[in-house]
Amino acid sequence: MCFFLKICGICQIRSHFIKKESNFFIQIMSISCISYERSLIYKYEVKKMSERLQKVIARSGIASRRKAEELMLNGKVTVNGQVIRTLGYKVKPSDAIEVEGIPLTQEEKVYFLFYKPAGVITSASDDKGRKTVLDFFPHVKERIFPIGRLDYQTSGLLLMTNDGELANLITHPRYGIDKSYIVKIKGYLTKEQVKQLQRGIMLEDGKTLPARVKVKSYDRKRNTSIVHIVIWEGRNRQVRRMFEAIGFRVEKLKREQLSFLTLGYLNPGEYRVLTAHEIKQLRVVATTKDHRLDYMQK
Ligand code: URA
Repeated sequence: MCFFLKICGICQIRSHFIKKESNFFIQIMSISCISYERSLIYKYEVKKMSERLQKVIARSGIASRRKAEELMLNGKVTVNGQVIRTLGYKVKPSDAIEVEGIPLTQEEKVYFLFYKPAGVITSASDDKGRKTVLDFFPHVKERIFPIGRLDYQTSGLLLMTNDGELANLITHPRYGIDKSYIVKIKGYLTKEQVKQLQRGIMLEDGKTLPARVKVKSYDRKRNTSIVHIVIWEGRNRQVRRMFEAIGFRVEKLKREQLSFLTLGYLNPGEYRVLTAHEIKQLRVVATTKDHRLDYMQK
């Protein structure tokens, strides 16, 4: 629009000069300005109108695309006061959308890399009154939520955002982004047990995919080991269950890395804003290929 006003401004100055010479030129100039403005408005509307309602809801961060479709089918979504159940409904810029009676506002997207401390729950609220990850973001006005989850006692890297679309991409099992953990266990891992973890462990929800596993150190006095493990899945309590399945109790668990992102200089409870480059890179990593293949082909 700014560009349009500038053009109009230039047109006005030019037409002022031309005015003295010919009224015909003034008419030509104003017609071209008006049609330029119309074409801008048209492009804007076409772009906005091409978005489906469930996609707009998912982008707002309140639900995944599938959940948004469920909400629509269950009559929980209204547009301009009318219940919309049609999944193909295209949103117009002037549409007032409400989900379960709450207006959907298009917030600016925000992205944080958070160092979750142990003893904090990865959800927006807790009925037991425990500290939640949102307690660490009191000044953030946007409705952010964690991408994926870490157990109550697990510390480490957790992304927080209000971008539901990116969150869905990152957590989608199809692309298997690598997550790297440091585990402190009671006891000593034999070579065969390391191989077992590397090959995959049979859990109640199926066999885990091959993992990268390396024993970093063993403390003879305390009889504890520090193990580095990289997994490509995000099953519930996966790392703890893998170790438990071969007879080890996990004493401490920390997520050190998610794909190319690390905790860097952050201390527990601190966060930083992701850079534009990191956000772009995350999108690439989350959509280009199945990252497990890189590892399995090695
Ligand atoms: N695996 C677990 O067992 N816990 C976590 O929090 C993350 C991965």
